[in-house]
Amino acid sequence: MKIKLINKKTFNTEKNLTIKIITPERLEKAKFKKTLKKAGFNAEQDTLCGMHGKSLLFCGVENYANENVKTSAAHIAKAVKSFDYKSLSIDVDKDNIQAIIEGFILGGYEFNAYKSKPKKVKIKTLYLTCENVQELTKEFEEAIIVSEATCYTRDIVNTAPDDMHPETLAKLAKKLANQNNLECNILNEKALKKERCEAILAVGRASRHESKLIHLSYKPANPKKIISLVGKGLTYDSGGLSLKPATSMVTMKMDKAGACAVLGIIKAISELKLDIEVHAFVGAVENMIGGDAYKPDDVLVSRKGDTIEVRNTDAEGRLVLADVLDYAQDRVKADYLFDFATLTGACMVALGQYTTGVMGHSNRLRHDISKASSKAGELTASLPFNKHLKKQIKSEIADICNISNKPYGGAITAGLFLDNFVKEENKNKWLHFDIAGSAYTETPWDVNVYGGTGAGVRFMTQFLKSIK
Ligand code: BES
Ligand code: ZN
Ligand code: ZN
Repeated sequence: MKIKLINKKTFNTEKNLTIKIITPERLEKAKFKKTLKKAGFNAEQDTLCGMHGKSLLFCGVENYANENVKTSAAHIAKAVKSFDYKSLSIDVDKDNIQAIIEGFILGGYEFNAYKSKPKKVKIKTLYLTCENVQELTKEFEEAIIVSEATCYTRDIVNTAPDDMHPETLAKLAKKLANQNNLECNILNEKALKKERCEAILAVGRASRHESKLIHLSYKPANPKKIISLVGKGLTYDSGGLSLKPATSMVTMKMDKAGACAVLGIIKAISELKLDIEVHAFVGAVENMIGGDAYKPDDVLVSRKGDTIEVRNTDAEGRLVLADVLDYAQDRVKADYLFDFATLTGACMVALGQYTTGVMGHSNRLRHDISKASSKAGELTASLPFNKHLKKQIKSEIADICNISNKPYGGAITAGLFLDNFVKEENKNKWLHFDIAGSAYTETPWDVNVYGGTGAGVRFMTQFLKSIK
């Protein structure tokens, strides 16, 4: 569906369905109040009522808060897929245009790459009608860029693991670099050996696909700040020799969602043309089993030089990130360092599956992220470090252990493991985002549909837009 911003006065409404988002309060004064109420419509949040004789569709909202308008638009986008109209139209203004665009694009999203006969949608265009096109053009264009970048992230997450493995992910990153004028450097296993990235290489050793470290950069002429983003790109996580049970293995194609998020973010920032230099580092690896698989009891020497005792090969993301974080810090002196990872099931236990866990040392930075995520409509919450939990990842035989010796606080001990690989001078510049729950869903919620959600793209773009 194409989305066009046009002047209300010049709009020709033939074969068009007009959408009205309406509160219970407004309904009381509405022209069609009687008819709508007869149909049982009370303008409750996300309820719909069509008056097709008049080519009208009403959708209820509790009030006109952006979050409500957004989910209402998402519901409309789903409902109208089977409708027989040429176009839709809806009135927009400065306050609600972003919510309406995000609701429509994200709520109407479908991943059809593997359907041999995808359903055809008859509606070709969504017209956003307004008083003054010029006044809204910037908001319009920005909302489209961010929503499309979120869908781009979703598409990669949703792609099957035998189609999106480390080599194809690297190819896709190269393509994005070409399209968006980004610098691109990809390290293959030979280069990773040279870089002493033994942790990455160990995790990927039993895979038939070569592990890759991908580095994309967007470099505007006079950047206000430099940002490094690091993404966990486990294109499949079988658990390795500490094999996952069958039911937990399903959906583990999503273990690359951190990588997909950082690609989506650099896509958005480069299209928004922000004056911020952005580096995206991705550790693209597949965690498999086999005769040459790394194993519990192995001791790895990380790129940093610290030795890691492996006690569980399913805690592989932190091993990959240890090396990627170290590499990223050596390559780029950034003002902020953020990593995105589907790191722990424990994060879902702690916060529920809708909320991204935020960890790090800087209260200020956590506060700013919290503000950006509220504005963007993503849920985030802080999980606090403490010195007692840190003791739980001590090793008897190496410098650090890849799992905790106690069964509680697993999201935080994973964050503390990563902290070990953040250089002293970067402690207050770094945050870790655990998106294990928020990156993927099998039941629709908010503007999310089955599959990847694109978690991280909207709040990080909002944060980077807010940098002065
Ligand atoms: N990729 C998983 C974490 C995960 C679990 C993401 C469920 C999304 C949904 C990660 O590599 C993992 O397996 N973590 C283990 C850590 C444990 C072995 C310490 C976990 O969470 O069980
Ligand atoms: Zn794992
Ligand atoms: Zn994993």
